[in-house]
Amino acid sequence: MQLSTKHLLGIKDITTADISLILSTAQQFKEVLQRPVKKVPSLREVTIVNLFYENSTRTRMSFELAEKRLSADTINFTASASSVKKGETLLDTVNNILSMKVDMVVMRHSASGAPHFLAKHIPAAIINAGDGINEHPTQALLDAFSIKEKLQTLEGKKILLVGDIMHSRVALSNIYLLKKMGAELMVAGPPTLIPKYIAEALQVKVEYNLKKALEWCDVANVLRIQLERQNQVLFSSLREYNLAYGVTKKLLDGLKKEILIMHPGPINRGVEIDSDVADGHQSIILQQVENGVAVRMAVLYLLSGSKNS
Ligand code: CP
Repeated sequence: MQLSTKHLLGIKDITTADISLILSTAQQFKEVLQRPVKKVPSLREVTIVNLFYENSTRTRMSFELAEKRLSADTINFTASASSVKKGETLLDTVNNILSMKVDMVVMRHSASGAPHFLAKHIPAAIINAGDGINEHPTQALLDAFSIKEKLQTLEGKKILLVGDIMHSRVALSNIYLLKKMGAELMVAGPPTLIPKYIAEALQVKVEYNLKKALEWCDVANVLRIQLERQNQVLFSSLREYNLAYGVTKKLLDGLKKEILIMHPGPINRGVEIDSDVADGHQSIILQQVENGVAVRMAVLYLLSGSKNS
């Protein structure tokens, strides 16, 4: 079985069959990761560059570990410590790296569309590790994997995305993916952080009352307020945001059911989520991080066209 695409630039452009193949391959790699010897030789002849133009903890380390578990050769590039600081362009940087015989590029960039631009100009396979406010496809894949692991299926499940929908690439990739896989989607948050087009264009429910949104869902994926991407004041204060939209234990205890709590990280404790919820028994936040390695192994393996399968 093969993916229908050479790159993973976003969830919008991949098929339901691609998503199912990545999730089932990730399940096999998750089993490998439970063994005493967690390494397989699948990408022994493949060299991968992790090209990070924006900060990251989880995604970067998860890709690095996935590459090592697959026996790939890896090099790491951090824009802030590179010749980008001397004015070198993205395309020059990447062409110089590729001349060292690199096969695949994992790329995070603050500009939406940066990996799509690169895909038009270079021969290597590109994996989008988050581009601006556009997409974060591997986050959506690991979120879907984690929901499926807990609830067996995505079909018919009610998934809530709560918080800064406007600036969230995680939200967009999750909406594309979960809708393709038959889930029902709702977004919740302050009106200023929810794009006006979203209900009609993406066919999602919109709710401005957090309690009602939590009563509706099976899973709440809580998103961070992305202060670094906001160039105007979109809510009065973090304290007031927490009072209206913070997910608290009191809110969860008031529901007639137990829902799953997710968060892509990094968490702003006491803003969008309280510590006793983030660390509570309904939270699968660290399981999301664990599953990220298996999901990224699957993506790398399937896009490599591996010679060692
Ligand atoms: N979830 C996520 O993308 O986290 P990082 O920014 O730490 O990679």
